[in-house]
Formats: sequence, C-alpha cells, structure tokens
Amino acid sequence: MQNLLAQPLKLPCGVVLSNRIAKAAMTEGLADEYHCATDRHERLYRGWSQGGAGLLLTGNVQVDRSHLERPGNLVIDNNGGLEALKAYARAGTEAGNHLWMQINHPGRQTPGELNGAPLAPSAIPLRMAGDKFAPPRAMTEAQILDVIRRWAHVARTAREAGFTGVQIHAAHGYLLSQFLSPLSNQRTDAWGGSLENRARALLEVYRAIRKATGPDFPISVKMNSADFQKGGFDSDECLHVVRWLHEAGVDLLEISGGNYEQLQMLGSGEGEGTDGSVVRESTRKREAYFLEFAQKIRPVCDIPLMITGGFRSRAAMTAALESGGLDVVGLGRPLCVDQDLPRKLLDGSVEMSPAHERNLKLDPAVVPDVSDQATRDLIEAFGGLGWYCLQLIYLGHGKSVDTQMSVYEAFVRYQENEATTLAQLRDWKPVAA
Ligand SMILES: Cc1cc2nc3c(=O)[nH]c(=O)nc-3n(C[C@H](O)[C@H](O)[C@H](O)COP(=O)(O)O)c2cc1C
Repeated sequence: MQNLLAQPLKLPCGVVLSNRIAKAAMTEGLADEYHCATDRHERLYRGWSQGGAGLLLTGNVQVDRSHLERPGNLVIDNNGGLEALKAYARAGTEAGNHLWMQINHPGRQTPGELNGAPLAPSAIPLRMAGDKFAPPRAMTEAQILDVIRRWAHVARTAREAGFTGVQIHAAHGYLLSQFLSPLSNQRTDAWGGSLENRARALLEVYRAIRKATGPDFPISVKMNSADFQKGGFDSDECLHVVRWLHEAGVDLLEISGGNYEQLQMLGSGEGEGTDGSVVRESTRKREAYFLEFAQKIRPVCDIPLMITGGFRSRAAMTAALESGGLDVVGLGRPLCVDQDLPRKLLDGSVEMSPAHERNLKLDPAVVPDVSDQATRDLIEAFGGLGWYCLQLIYLGHGKSVDTQMSVYEAFVRYQENEATTLAQLRDWKPVAA
C-alpha cells in the first residue's frame, strides 16, 4: 500500500515539502538575556531536523520585546543576534527539511509581570481566574500599523538568516486572533466591526510579509477553526477568512482552536461556540480535534491544509490523509518526548506515539490547601503545558527528557524556570500599568 505520510507536497509558491509530517510550533523558552537565539536552539532543532519531519515550525517568535508570551521568547526587534539566528537555521535544516519561523504578538495574553498594560484591539481583559494578565490598552491605528511593519521585519530577517519560510500566528487568542474575535475586538474603526474589518490586521500582516519576502517564500497562517466561546469567532466566519487567505496566496493553512480562556488546542477545553463547535468525545477518539472542520474547507477552496491537535497513531494520520481532509499532519506534544518519531512513523517501525497527556492529571491529595476547583484546573492545565515545555528545555540543554515528572512537580519547576529566566533578562524593563 502507498505510504501517504511519505508523499511530497508542492505548495503554491513552488516549494516542495518532502513528506506530510510537520512538527507544530512549540514555544522553547531558550533565548538568551537579550532575547536572541542560543546554542540551545541549535541543539533542539538539530534533533528535530534529524527526526525526519518534512517541515519544522519554530516556537512563536515575538515582534516586540515588550510583548512576550514568556520571558525566554526569541524576539527580533533590532536586538542583534543575526549570526546566532543563522546558526539556529543551519542546525534546524541540516537534514534538508524545511524550517519555518512562527511569528507572533501576544496582545492581551502577555503575562502581567512582563507588561502591566499590553496592547490589544480593545481594552477588554481576559476572563481568567487569578491575576496573571493585566487589563489591556486599545491600540491606536499608528500602533496597529507599527505592529504590521514589525511582522514584515521579522519575516525579512528570518529569510536572511536561512529560515525557509514563516508562519503567521493568528490562533490561540493572541493579537491577530483577538482582532478576529468580536468578543475581544469591539473597535468601531476600519479594524473592527464587520468580519472584513476584523480580518484586516491578519490580511495586512500577510501582504506586508509577502512584499518583504517575495513570491517564492512560503507563508503559512495558523488560525482557529473557532474560539469555542459564545459570541466569539465561529466556524462560518473562519470559512470566509480562509477563502480570503487563499485568494491572497497563503501557502499552507494550519487549523487549530481555542485560547487561554478555552484550551481546545490541547483537547481540554469545554466551551461551546454559537455553532455548537465543541471538541466532542468522538472527535477526540479519532485523534484529530479539528479534522471535521477541515472537511468543510475543502468544498470552499483548495488551500493546502495542515491540521494539528490530537494525532497520536500512524493509522489515524494515514486515515486523515486518505480522507482528503488534510495535506499535512501536525504533531506537537509527541515530539517533546521523542524527536525521532516522524522517521519511525514514516518507515513504519512504530504505530503509536506514547500519549503522556492522559497521565498528566493533578492528584487532589497533592494540593489539599487549594480548595477551589478553578485554581486546581488552572494548575492542571498549566502544569501539563509546563511538563512539555520543560522537556524542550532539557533537550535544548542536551539532557534527557524526564517522563516520570508529575504534573504538580512540572507546575512548580516550570514557574521556577520562568522566574529565573525573567530575572536574567537584560536591556529590558517591565511595562508598568
Ligand atoms: C509545550 C507547547 C508549546 C506550544 N507552543 C506553541 C507555539 O509557540 N505556537 C503555537 O502556535 N502553538 C503552540 N502550541 C500548540 C501546538 O502547536 C499544538 O497546536 C498543540 O500542542 C496540539 O497538538 P498536539 O496534540 O499534537 O500536541 C504549543 C503546545 C505545547 C504542548
């Protein structure tokens, strides 16, 4: 039988991906005190390059040092470090695979200890337990135009450094996703209101990058199929935006979902969109959380599609490709514990990745003094994410992964790691409220 995972894929810009497995973007937290690339990035990405995926997407790289997703983010805003970035790109493409830089601005999802008044489309705070995120400030039009220029600058630098493409992060509730959602974007000017206006920031970022990098450079967009929140960006709106992105010439669309208020991208959110688009148990069993939605895109346009979220077995990946619902299978968490998994899936030597997330449940006896369920849920969600983030840090430092770590240990160790990284930052000061 034909090995569908091993088939090459030609993108609209002419570039060919050597197979159908992509490592999805995962934040590394490995930048130095000036937010520049380090030998830790080289080590981590050399491992993934040798691991066999045709495409590697980097963790999100920020366009502005005052808007970080976490302290160890890589930033490109005239902070130097081009040689280190080139070394990173060389290591990450060693096996001849593609390496695309994911570019982001977190907007109101910038942690409060980093920015006490982050920029966002509107001054609407996140609805989350705790005080991790500060209330945002509504952007002026000049600030929106500045962010668009920054995005193009980062893409141009990525190309110059040897990254072979870029991805615009417009998913998971970060700035461009905030623009898309009527819940977080209540502007009354050209950047808010109608869907066309809410999608303007994303399309302008795409156009600015295309202009800066040329017609032959792959540009991908990662977008939510829906926000899974009442009154939020829903799947009908998403279909319209997909059509516009296709017309504009996007090379690969990656579909994901959720945000910090609803963690659907990790298959754990419980919200419901106006269209009832929850991640159902049946979907979770089929492994691909967003495949059903992808199948709605096909009749609308033939943009190359990557789906990320939940894939664990070779059988499910092959079935998804066979169904014609997608072109590229995105893998995140499995590649935090086994960098060689793509090669093993491609040559058929493994059928299944270990699904560690099923064991990452918080033992109630471990935090008996935390009585409210919302806080426990938060510890479990962020401890689970921290567990995977820590594995990437270990790999970046040349250490082995630690799969025995409990979710609570991971929560504590991860907070400590982030506090240490924050304390080491130079040439940087937190933005006051
Ligand atoms: C440790 C970790 C870091 C992540 N960082 C990013 C990121 O920087 N950008 C992004 O778009 N998604 C990020 N994600 C989401 C993944 O790209 C992916 O959508 C998600 O993990 C679901 O895929 P999976 O089920 O294969 O893990 C991250 C996920 C994990 C586990």
